[in-house]
Amino acid sequence: MIQKPPGVEDIFPDRSPKFNFIINTAKEVFQLYNYREVILPVMEYTEVFARGIGDSSDIVTKEMFTFEDRGGRSLTLRPEGTASMVRAYVENGEYNRLALCKFFYHGPMFRAERPQKGRLRQFNQFGAEMFGSDYPWYDFEVISLMNEITTRLQIKNYTLLINSIGCPDCRRPYVGELFKYYSLHEQELCEDCKKRLYTNPLRLLDCKVEGCITLKQDAPKINQYLCQSCNDHFHKTRDLLEEHSIQYIHDPLLVRGLDYYTKTTFEFVTTKLGGQNAFAAGGRYNNLVELFGGKPTPAVGFAAGIERIELLLEELSLKEYLDVYIAYSSNNALPVVIKIAKELRRNNISCDFDPTAKGFKTQFKRADRENARFSLIFGDDEIAKNTATIKDMSSGNQVQIPIDSVIQYFKEISTTG
Ligand code: HAM
Repeated sequence: MIQKPPGVEDIFPDRSPKFNFIINTAKEVFQLYNYREVILPVMEYTEVFARGIGDSSDIVTKEMFTFEDRGGRSLTLRPEGTASMVRAYVENGEYNRLALCKFFYHGPMFRAERPQKGRLRQFNQFGAEMFGSDYPWYDFEVISLMNEITTRLQIKNYTLLINSIGCPDCRRPYVGELFKYYSLHEQELCEDCKKRLYTNPLRLLDCKVEGCITLKQDAPKINQYLCQSCNDHFHKTRDLLEEHSIQYIHDPLLVRGLDYYTKTTFEFVTTKLGGQNAFAAGGRYNNLVELFGGKPTPAVGFAAGIERIELLLEELSLKEYLDVYIAYSSNNALPVVIKIAKELRRNNISCDFDPTAKGFKTQFKRADRENARFSLIFGDDEIAKNTATIKDMSSGNQVQIPIDSVIQYFKEISTTG
C-alpha cells in the first residue's frame, strides 16, 4: 500500500464540511470589508521567499520544499501567501497603480516542519493583505477582520497579542542592545540561537527552547526604542482597538518568524493547541513591495491556519445531507428510478440510488449512511399502482403519492424549507 507522506492529510467528508464552513465564513467577512479574492500559484521561484521572508529565517533555512525545474531553476512550494501576494501585486501593472488594494486568498501552504498536532507539512491558510496605506486604521482593520471571523466561528478562549517591532531605523539600536544582552548569556543559548545571535538576534525572542524562553524574560524590550513615528502609529492602533472594544495584550517581546515586518505585529493565541498556540497572525510590512522592485507601498495583513481553527471547533458537528435516497424492489423499476433521479437533479434536489441494488434492507442502510432526508420507495405495489412512497427519515412518516406528483412534492418541500 502506498501511503501519504508525513505531515500531509486527506480531508474526507467527515471533515470537509467544517473545513469549508471556516473558509466560507472568512470569505463572507472579507467581502463585507471589500477584500477581493486572488488565486495565487502554489509554486514560485525560490528567490520570492528567500528575499521576502528572509534568508536567515527558519522557514527559508530549514523548512522549504525546494526543487529544480527541468531548466535548472530553483522552485519552491509556497510556505506562506504574503511574499507570493507581493510578487503578484508588483508584477501586475494594473492593480499596483491603484492607490489602495485589498486582497484575500486561501489555499495550501507547505513547510517541512516536524509534524505534530496542529503542525503539518501541507496546511491551509486564509489570509488578507492591504496595500497602499500606512494609516493605523488598516492595522486595526485587518485585526478586526480576524476578530470578526473568530466571533462568527464562535471561537472562545483566545488572546490577541500585539506589539510594534518598529522600523529599520529604530530597530537597529534595539537589535544592538539585544546582541549585547544575549552575548553575556551565549553559553546558555540553544545551538540554533548561538547561530541566530550572529545572523538575526531578533529571532532569539521567537525560540521555543525552554532555556531561551527563560532568558527572554529579561531581554531588552523594543517599546523603549521606538522612534516617534512608530510609537505614534502603535498608540493610534491600540486606541482604535480600545475604542472598538477589541481586547488585546501588549506583548513587548512578540516578534514573528518572518523578516518582513515593520511596526505592528500580532498573534491570535490559545492554550488549546499545545505547542502550536497561534491560530492566526500577521502585521505590517511597509518595505516589502519595494524589496520586490515595486514603488514604496506600505502594506499590512494576516493569515490564519485553517486546520488549527478546525481543532478549536471540535464541538461543532456539521453533516452533509442528501435530499432523497431512491430505493426500489426489482429491476423492472430501474428505468423509472433513473428517470425520476434525472428530474430531481434537474430541479436542484440531490438524490442517489444504486443501479445494482438487491433488497430494501441494504438500500435503507445506505440511505441512513448518506444522511438522506427522505427515501423515495418503489416497491412492487407502488409500481403496479403507478405511485411512490415517500418516507421522512427523521420522523419515519410515510405518504404514498402518484409518480407524476413526486417532483412537485419535493419542490414544495425545498421551497418551504
Ligand atoms: P505565520 O505565523 O507563519 O504567518 O502563519 C500564519 C498561521 O498559519 C499560523 O498562525 C498558523 O495558524 C498557521 N500555520 C503556520 N504554520 C503551520 C503549520 N506547519 N501547520 C499548520 N498551521 C500552520 C504567515 O504565514 C504570514 N504570511 C502572515 C501574514 C500575512 N503577515 C502579513 N500578512
